Formats: sequence, C-alpha cells, structure tokens
Amino acid sequence: MTERKQFRAIKGTRDILPPESALWNHVEQTAREVFSTFGFGEIHIPELELSRLFERAVGDDTDIVAKELFTWVDSPRANKGIREARVKAIGANYRGNDPVAPLREEMIRLIGEGNFDKLAEANRISLRPEGTASVCRAYIEHGMYTWPQPVKLYYIGPMFRRERPQKGRYRQFYQIGAEVLGQSDAPAIDAELLEMLLGYFDRVGLTRTTLYINSIGDKRCRPLYVELLRGELRKVKGNLKEDSRRRIETNPLRVLDSKIPEEQPIIEKLPRISDHLCDDCRAHFAKLKEELALRSVPYQENWRLVRGLDYYTRTTFEVTAEGLGSQNAVCGGGRYDGLVELLGGPTTKGIGFAIGTDRVVLALSSILDTLVPNEEIPTSPISTLMQRPDLVVTGTTEGTWSRATVLAQSLRRRGLSIFLPKPGTKLPKVFDAAQKLGIRVAIIVGENESQGNQYAVRVLQPTEPKSPRDLRIPFDDVVRYGKLVKLRQDLERSLARLSTGVEPTPRGIALSRITQTLIAEGILPNRVGGTIQDLMSILNSAIHGKELTSGSVDWALATGNLLLNELETINPFREKENA
Ligand code: HAM
Repeated sequence: MTERKQFRAIKGTRDILPPESALWNHVEQTAREVFSTFGFGEIHIPELELSRLFERAVGDDTDIVAKELFTWVDSPRANKGIREARVKAIGANYRGNDPVAPLREEMIRLIGEGNFDKLAEANRISLRPEGTASVCRAYIEHGMYTWPQPVKLYYIGPMFRRERPQKGRYRQFYQIGAEVLGQSDAPAIDAELLEMLLGYFDRVGLTRTTLYINSIGDKRCRPLYVELLRGELRKVKGNLKEDSRRRIETNPLRVLDSKIPEEQPIIEKLPRISDHLCDDCRAHFAKLKEELALRSVPYQENWRLVRGLDYYTRTTFEVTAEGLGSQNAVCGGGRYDGLVELLGGPTTKGIGFAIGTDRVVLALSSILDTLVPNEEIPTSPISTLMQRPDLVVTGTTEGTWSRATVLAQSLRRRGLSIFLPKPGTKLPKVFDAAQKLGIRVAIIVGENESQGNQYAVRVLQPTEPKSPRDLRIPFDDVVRYGKLVKLRQDLERSLARLSTGVEPTPRGIALSRITQTLIAEGILPNRVGGTIQDLMSILNSAIHGKELTSGSVDWALATGNLLLNELETINPFREKENA
C-alpha cells in the first residue's frame, strides 16, 4: 500500500484525466479551427530555452523572471568535449541575425580560456514561462522577416512558473497563444486579433467574458508618465503598503496592479496614462476603439491594466470570465513593437495574446455543471464530449479469441471504435463491461461462425425480447451494422450537446458521410436520410457559430429524438431474415 502512495504529481502540477481531457481537446481544437480562419499557422516551440532569452524579453525585474523561473545550469564540466565541439559548430554555422549570437561568441571565448564557472553561468537554461519570447526568437532564427508579412503564428502547450498554487493557478499550466509579427502596427491588426479572440470564446462556449483594453504608451511618452507617477506616489508613500512602496522606485506602473483595498482610493486619484499619451499613441488607441466598434467587439477601458511583462507598448488587454474566483483572467496580451529588435532582429512590430487553457476548462466545467441535460438523453454534458465505442467484439472459446482480435482490427480500420475485452473473459462479464461503457451491440465470434466468416449479433441495449437473440451475419453486414450504430451514437451526442448549449463539434461532417453510405446501401430509407440532412443543417449552423432561434433548436431536438427512435427499429438484417 505504502508503495502505491509513494509517488504523487509534484506541487503545482497535475494529471488531466478523461472525461476532462475531452473538454481540453475541445478547447484546443476549437482554437485551431477558429485561428486558421484568420490565417494563423501552428508553431511548435521548445519547452527549454536559454535563460537569457526570458531575462532579456520578459525583463529581469519582473516576477516571472526574478522569482518564478525554473532554471538550472546545464553542467558544462561534465561533458566538456561534446559541448566544446557543439558550441564551436553552432558558432561557425550561424548566418545573419542570430538573437543569441553574442552569447555563443562569449561561450566560445570562455571555453578557450577554460573558464568553466563563467561558462556554466552563460549556459543556464529555463523551462519556458511563456511563449512570446520563443516565437520572436524563432522569427529571427528562421528569417521569417523575409516571409510575406505579417507572419501569424499560434502555439499550444505547457508553460512553467514557480507560483504559489491555488485554484486556477499552477506551476505547470497550459496556454493557447497567438502572435502577429510584421512591419505594420495598424490598429486594425490589434482589432482583428481581438475579434478573433472573442470569436474564439464564443465558439468554445465561454459566455460572460469581459474584454478590458488600455494603452500604456510607447518609449517616448511612457517614461515621462512613469516619472510623473513616481513623483505622485512619493507624495503618498506613507499611506502605501510595503510592496507598493518598493515598487515606487523599481516599477511604479505595477502599483496600479495592487488589489489591496486600502490602496484603492489612493490609486484612483493618481494621474492616468490616457491623459499623458503622445499624439501618435493617442491616435493609435482612438483608431483601435473605432476598429473594435466596426467589428462589434464589446470592450471596457481599464486605465490600470499595465500587465506584468516588460515588453509591452501601446495596446494591452485582458479577458476575464465569471465563476473563477480571484484567478479570473482567462487571457492576457498586448503589443510588443521593438521586442524582436531587442533580441537582435530587424525592426518589427508585434502583438499577441495567451489564453490560459486551465482556466477556460475550469470556467467551461462550471457552466456545464449548471446546465440541466435533456431528459430524453441521459448523458452528462462533459460525457457528451467523449467518444464511446460503437461495438464490443468478443470471442467465446480459446480458439475464437484470435478471430475476434483480427475482426476488431478490420473494423477499426474501417473507422469503427471497438471494445475488445481481455481474451478469455466470460460472456456475462463482457456484456456487463460493455453496458457500463454505453455500448449497445455485441459481435460474438463463436466456434461455428468462425468457419464460415459468420458472426453473431446481440443487441444489449435496449434489450428487444422479440428480436432473435443471436442473428448470424457475414462480415460486410457487421460493418454496415456498425455504421448504423455509429450514426445513432453520433446523432445522440450531437443532440445532447445542442440541448446543453455546447457546440456540436464538426462530427456533423462524419454524420453526413455515414448517412450517405447507409442510404446508398439501402439500409436507411430516403425519407430518414432527408430528415437527417435537415437536422444536420441546423447542427452545422451551430458549428459555424450562427445564432440559432430557440424554435430551430427545439425542432432539431424533437426531430432528432424521433429519428433516434426510428433508427432503433431499423434492423438491417430483418428484411434478409424474412426474405
Ligand atoms: P500572461 O498574462 O502572463 O501573458 O499569461 C496569459 C494567461 O495565462 C493568463 O491570463 C492566465 O489565463 C494564464 N496563466 C498565467 N499564469 C498561470 C498559472 N500560473 N496558472 C494557470 N494559468 C496561468 C503571457 O504569458 C504573454 N506571453 C501573453 C502574450 C502573448 N502577450 C503577447 N503575446
């Protein structure tokens, strides 16, 4: 027992299990679909980078870098020979702009001098705390500034920050990030990115979000404002708490982030950056608001939104969602013109965001929990996201299990999801397990059938007393029957999701293909096929984010339930049996 309890996920990390993992897939897949309609391509960036990259990009004095990086020295003394060769090779091969070129030269020099302590310091690596720095590094490293501009990239994956864990805050957490890099800083780019972001939250089913925007000026006007702010803060220093007092000197903007109740009336009276923007920044922000209105993107201005990373200029934004408690920011982002230059690349403008996947999943789960599932379809909303097997395939004797294994293989190759129990499991146990998984039909490979490529079918749910218990059918009929079962299940899932307000995934497309096959094979009457097509046009509208009237949703649910009943009575073998 003690052995079993010995290992646990380390502090701030956790496992994501089914059915929750299906919700994660939905959240990530929806991002892929929505972002691709805006011309974004997916980039995979390493989870490890030189620490210097984050120190330079995110800023030495930020919490993320100063307190939260997971960093270590990749010991050079241990494998000096390999390292020396590698560093030399990289050093000799790099061409053009290389963000870490000065660092590599420094490393080669230190090797030459045999100064391994210093080399170790230069060779510190960190688990990435965010993705923007890596994307900019990759933009320079791969010469993406020679591609058609702007370059639009998104990334999905884990980030690491040594924070104090709590609900919605983890040490390994996940982000869905998007970045636009190029020559233009037109406010239309900012507005389009925000349109995409809110469109995403809509599509994924996260309602009741609020977008906050601000402009924090650029390198001309911000320093003047910061000095003004510092001056004002010094005057009220005595009334501020320890953290804010320290920040007056280190980073006065961060005082605006304070959540301490006693400090709020003081902060409200401080000068606001919106009154101190230079003409260009003011015009940029005004145009952004026009562009947002043009796209019907709702927003609120928040002059205190300064963000905790150093690279931002002008536009900053955050999205919050309800039901998450104190960790309610589901997305943060902003403009970072000049970051690529800071990392050694050419003059480049940039803007992006990162969505906190953990928090989106948390918020969606709490919405799903409050929804009452349709009585006709007794499934929980999250479980509607799970794929359940279409059929169980089982042997009955030692000799038939190998045939069952081969049958399962052929059916899976035809796109059916098969539950194949452990060889030797007795039939009652097989049926019991299958029913728990929600499987309706069993295909049984018996001694006699195995000779003539015949298989027995047993309907497990709902049990039909009148139907022949084990109908014998050939392989082709197993495939057809399997498709009918699949159609029923997919339809059921889509309806359950429509009724709970979760977007029916593009499984509608698979539904359409199966329906056509079954009509062509004469299993589904044309009449039923027509109803399914009508139903699917409603499901597809929902998939494409169109507003549905409650009338059309009611129609879809009622028709869908009738259709499910009808599908239940279609037995593709009955006709043959009678003939
Ligand atoms: P960030 O505000 O540090 O921005 O993080 C973005 C989002 O990641 C947050 O709004 C939150 O939802 C989620 N998040 C952050 N830390 C944690 C945590 N410890 N646990 C759970 N979720 C967390 C950035 O990372 C920037 N790179 C965004 C960006 C992209 N700006 C421009 N481009």
